[in-house]
Amino acid sequence: MKNIKNIAVFVSGTGSNFIAIYNQIKKGNINGRIALLITDNPNAKAISFAKDNNIKIQIIDSKIISNNITHEDFLLKILNSVSSDLIVLAGYLKMIPSKVISQYKNKIINIHPSLLPKFGGKGFYGMKVHQAVIKSRESFAGASVHFVDEVYDNGPIIKQEKIEVLNSDTPETISKKVLKIEHKILPYIVRKFCLDQIIFENNLPLIIGENEW
Ligand code: GRF
Repeated sequence: MKNIKNIAVFVSGTGSNFIAIYNQIKKGNINGRIALLITDNPNAKAISFAKDNNIKIQIIDSKIISNNITHEDFLLKILNSVSSDLIVLAGYLKMIPSKVISQYKNKIINIHPSLLPKFGGKGFYGMKVHQAVIKSRESFAGASVHFVDEVYDNGPIIKQEKIEVLNSDTPETISKKVLKIEHKILPYIVRKFCLDQIIFENNLPLIIGENEW
């Protein structure tokens, strides 16, 4: 396979999306490698998975930031140190500094558990999203993968997938169904990115090539 892409993954919690990407790489479905796992949470469960699978880990420690380097310059230093080709925000709760976004323009993607732009932006994360979907009596729920820009959950959408909301659904049942969609569409978009099959047409992302795994 030609030039394998270096992927940096940001997590804050369980990391099931991170693991879903890792598993597709193992199956040979993604022309990339997870070069670095970055987290702001030293207790993130994703860390033990990374350790067990020899994935390099960088915990963003407030001490490092305050003493001798700014947050954005620290992020740039570690991202550049692994020659990152793609940055994946997989349940990362912090904002990415604009200096990083501009240096990695159209190379940072995020997974969000709603059909953006609905139920996106500040305060919409985790179960709060699904509670809002149920409260608003939406007919559909789903997940979105989008490029990251300076505004939370706002960048151009690359792919979305939806499921019907049943009368019997609760935020918990929706959360489970949406997470299944996430574990499908995020690795799929990572695959297409690593194949250079996400292009821009009229400033909008366009997936080209085969639509299969
Ligand atoms: C996912 O629901 C994702 O959509 C959101 O944060 C959650 C992360 O879950 N951004 P996990 O850590 O990947 O299991």
